[in-house]
Amino acid sequence: CSYPVTLLQQVDSTNAEALRRLSSGATPPLLVIAEQQTAGRGRRGRRWASPFGENLYYSLLLRVSGGMRQLEGLSLVVGLALLDALREAGVNEAGLKWPNDLLVGGRKIAGILLELSGDPADVCHVVLGIGVNINMRVAPSGDAIDQPWTSLRQILGEQVDRNQFVTSLTRQLERYLDMHRLRGFASLREQWEESHLWQGCLVSLAAGSQAIKGRVLGVDDTGALRLEVEGREQVFSGGELSLRLH
Ligand code: BTN
Repeated sequence: CSYPVTLLQQVDSTNAEALRRLSSGATPPLLVIAEQQTAGRGRRGRRWASPFGENLYYSLLLRVSGGMRQLEGLSLVVGLALLDALREAGVNEAGLKWPNDLLVGGRKIAGILLELSGDPADVCHVVLGIGVNINMRVAPSGDAIDQPWTSLRQILGEQVDRNQFVTSLTRQLERYLDMHRLRGFASLREQWEESHLWQGCLVSLAAGSQAIKGRVLGVDDTGALRLEVEGREQVFSGGELSLRLH
C-alpha cells in the first residue's frame, strides 16, 4: 500500500499511538498495526479486548481538509470497506448495525472507532481505528467481552492469514475513501442501507439514560440514523448513541 506502516508487538492502543505520532510531527497518511493492545479503546468509553497475535488492531491516520462534509458518514463508509474485506475472506453473511458495528449471526466480528484531532470545521486529522476478530477462539482471560462475539476463524473453521486480510482491507479502504472524498456519503447511502441488518426493525436507541423507541427508516446523507418515532421522522447522529432491537 501507499502508506508507511508501523507494526508494533505491543502498544496501549493503536489509535492513541497514531495520534502520538501526529503530535510528534509525523505526516499522514500513516498506518499503525499492533500484535497486542494493553488498553484497546472501544466506543462509548468501553475497552476492546486485544489478545496477542490473534486479531487485527489497525489504525489509519488521515488528514481531512474538506471541512465537515469530509467527515460526514465517514465511519459508515469504513464499515462498507470492512464488509467487502470480510466477503473477500469468505465471510458472506456479515451485516452492519448503525453506526458501525459488523455482526455475523447477531455476534460482533469487528468494530470501528474514529478519533479526531484538530478543528473539524477546518483542517483536521482523523484516525480510523479498526478491530477485527480474526483467529480468536476463546475470550481472553481477564479481558471480559461484554457482548456476543465471533471471529473469522470461528465462522470459516480454519486459521486465517492476517497479512492477507490487512492487504484486502487496505485496498477496500482506499477504494471507499476515494468514493467518499469525491462524491460524499450520499453516493454510498443506499448501498449502506442494503447491508443494514436492522433496516425496518423496531429499535430502542439509548442516548444517555434516555431510550427512544422507533422504527428504522434508514440513514440520511450525513450518515445520521432516521427513525420513525410515534408517526414522525426523527434524525439522530453522534457517536455516543447505541441501538438495540426492541
Ligand atoms: C467498538 O467499540 O466497536 C470500536 C472498537 C474499535 C477497536 C479498534 S482496535 C484498533 C483501534 N485502536 C483502539 O484502541 N481501538 C481501535
